[in-house]
Amino acid sequence: MKWLSFSVIALLSLPVCASQVEVLHWWTSGGEARAVEVLKSEWAEQGNQWNDFAVQGGGGKSAMTVLKSRALAANPPEAAHLKGFELHEWGSLGFLRDLTPMAEHLGWYPQLPPMVRDTLSQNGALMAVPTGIHRVNWLWLNRKVFERQGLKPPTDWAQFVAVADKLKEKGITPLAIGNEPWQIAVLFETVALGEGGKTFYRKAFLEQDSATLTGPDMVRVLTRFQQLRAYVPEKYAGLKWHQATNLLESGGAAMQVMGDWVKGELSAGNYRPGEDIECLPSPGSQGLFSYNLDSIAMFKQRDPAQLQAQGELARLLMTPRFQEAFNRVKGSIPALIKPDMSKFDRCAIRSYQDFLHAEQQDNLLPSMAEGMAVPTNMRQGIMDVLSSFFNDARANPEQTAQQLERAMRSTRSGAEQK
Ligand code: BGC
Repeated sequence: MKWLSFSVIALLSLPVCASQVEVLHWWTSGGEARAVEVLKSEWAEQGNQWNDFAVQGGGGKSAMTVLKSRALAANPPEAAHLKGFELHEWGSLGFLRDLTPMAEHLGWYPQLPPMVRDTLSQNGALMAVPTGIHRVNWLWLNRKVFERQGLKPPTDWAQFVAVADKLKEKGITPLAIGNEPWQIAVLFETVALGEGGKTFYRKAFLEQDSATLTGPDMVRVLTRFQQLRAYVPEKYAGLKWHQATNLLESGGAAMQVMGDWVKGELSAGNYRPGEDIECLPSPGSQGLFSYNLDSIAMFKQRDPAQLQAQGELARLLMTPRFQEAFNRVKGSIPALIKPDMSKFDRCAIRSYQDFLHAEQQDNLLPSMAEGMAVPTNMRQGIMDVLSSFFNDARANPEQTAQQLERAMRSTRSGAEQK
């Protein structure tokens, strides 16, 4: 504790000079890279130097592998995009700097919505600073394609299937998605929300209740999910999420189910979110908000210059000015209370209103697919089961529900044994 308060005092009293940070992230698509540019330029404006440690790959799997090897070599970057359970796991291993003294000194706590504060806290300590709140349960649709075909946006999964069948008949790919397990998990999660509802979702993923995981609701959710396999693009293997978005933009596909990082991609391609590409809650999930909180954690350092650089970066990330500029490009909404939303697009304004509403109604749900709901190894187990299921037309939903439960139980007992 003494050392930590020393580090804050040191940070605040050091003379102002150029700070250097290396930051690991996987914000590498066109839209994401533009958001990183916002951060880099605000950092550079303060006379600081940015060492970009960008690792390709949506969902962050490769980034996490690279980070592990750097940490094992005792050479982690100063900062990394770490979120949800992954953040807590690194924290438990003792790698991360406790930012509580800074938070207390600089009055950050009252600025954080309760969900943000809870997600970033571990045993009462603040382990990261938030960069933005993404909503995961979105349906994006190409308005022109819908208008041309005289179709109405689906508001539940039964309607989705009806609309998708009509599009398919016309030779239009209904659903833009690639075969990466995390993209498949995003789709599954939205089906679970829309077909099962919030109580089902909580019981299955937060409580990991065996009866729910193997029960009739889960079988129904899996059956619906399996149906959607018929609507994917011909070139589904290897399609990245942003390539799927490009397909949606060009009208090569009519819809995409994905978090609102899609919006960054749309703006980068000069498409207007909420106009050319409509944003709606994913079918059946009106009123619910599944969140993915992006955050940056700092790896422990001894060098006062590095500590200072981390502190400077954390301070910048916490400013309303940065949060507004970054999130307008990234597609998310600021992770601070009462943000000024006046310059945001329609979808972000909707996201913010829905977030507030969901907060009041107890409808905020951590995204399983995005690592907010279950430990990393359990999420991996779930994704393995889901992706083999989705890719095998003959797979049986009853048996898959059993497999899902087993995969979750075995990773849970593995975690308990540790
Ligand atoms: C991250 C987002 C990112 C998306 C696609 C998610 O896991 O939280 O910030 O845009 O992956 O790369």
